[in-house]
Amino acid sequence: EKGGFDTYMLKEIYEQPTALTNTLIGRLQDATGEVNLDINLDPSSFKRISIIACGTAFYAGLVGEYLIEQLARIPVEVDVASEYRYRDPLVSENTLAIVVSQSGETIDTLEALREAKRHGAQTLGVINAKGSSMTRELDDTLYIHAGPEIGVASTKAYTSMVSAFLLLALWLGRARGTLSEEQGAELLHAARELPRLVEQALAPERVEAIKVVAEKYHQARDYLFLGRGVNSPTAYEGALKLKEISYIHAEAYAAGEMKHGPIALIDANLPVVVIATESRLLEKTISNVQEVRARAGKVIAILSDGDTENARHADDVIYVPRAHEMVSPVVNAIAMQLLAYFTATALGKDVDKPRNLAKSVTVE
Ligand code: F6R
Repeated sequence: EKGGFDTYMLKEIYEQPTALTNTLIGRLQDATGEVNLDINLDPSSFKRISIIACGTAFYAGLVGEYLIEQLARIPVEVDVASEYRYRDPLVSENTLAIVVSQSGETIDTLEALREAKRHGAQTLGVINAKGSSMTRELDDTLYIHAGPEIGVASTKAYTSMVSAFLLLALWLGRARGTLSEEQGAELLHAARELPRLVEQALAPERVEAIKVVAEKYHQARDYLFLGRGVNSPTAYEGALKLKEISYIHAEAYAAGEMKHGPIALIDANLPVVVIATESRLLEKTISNVQEVRARAGKVIAILSDGDTENARHADDVIYVPRAHEMVSPVVNAIAMQLLAYFTATALGKDVDKPRNLAKSVTVE
């Protein structure tokens, strides 16, 4: 049932091109640069959006915040569900509450959804599991169609959630007139390319290169992950994946925060994963890389194909396919998953059943 793979997690990592195809299929309208999501809510009625989720789904929500604010110019806040449900949130009928969940059963997210509804919010779910508890209480659901996810550490659900947020941001942007036909068409093209890019990201030589890096550092006690902008959540997700399955302590920061504290951690024993793929902020990220280097930290740079210029600042480089910045979190997540996976397997850990974790958290 693992389709020839050693673990469910690896099988699900390799299912991502298919999962993403299923997230996108039938939803992109090339001719008009529009997306068709079958959502009955009125996109012009939202004055603010609250995204609510736990864990990996929360990080997908952080990417969603970035995409929606950039493309649809609506203020977005993102909350972990266990905070939202108890903080007496500011909500009106012009608030769209978006809950994000693979299982659709996470108790904190379900209770946060109920809280948002009590305050009169309109509600939308970004959900994987068909007919799950949340879907029965939501006004509308945007299914991500990633297929069943069995590995405890979420992989394909994450990238499908992020892709669903791209669709949502495009839908909102087109409907609200913040996104021109031309920009819409460009992003639609980038979205359509995603399954192919992820397929490339999973090419055997790339996977092998990541395995080599993972094995080189698998004895590290701590790891640091840095990213900027739309890829700061990629850093958070990278650290979470590593913690969950390898039990190595990992922290993640928006790269610009490093100077404000975490830089004190850096020494020759600390591998620092820096997401430095093509972006308008790449130069700033590279200066963070140099700061790590200057303190003898070991830099593992995630770079876009062909960026040999910046490779010289790194101890190790993981190249990923070139991607439009707005879709790069999906492509970069693959490298995070594989790095965590091969670190855990090098340490002999059972990646499908990490200690202390359950696939679906239905108690508080
Ligand atoms: C991480 C992971 C958890 C879940 C979180 C939310 O790999 O699996 O952090 O993302 O428990 O679960 P769902 O999405 O089912 O609400």
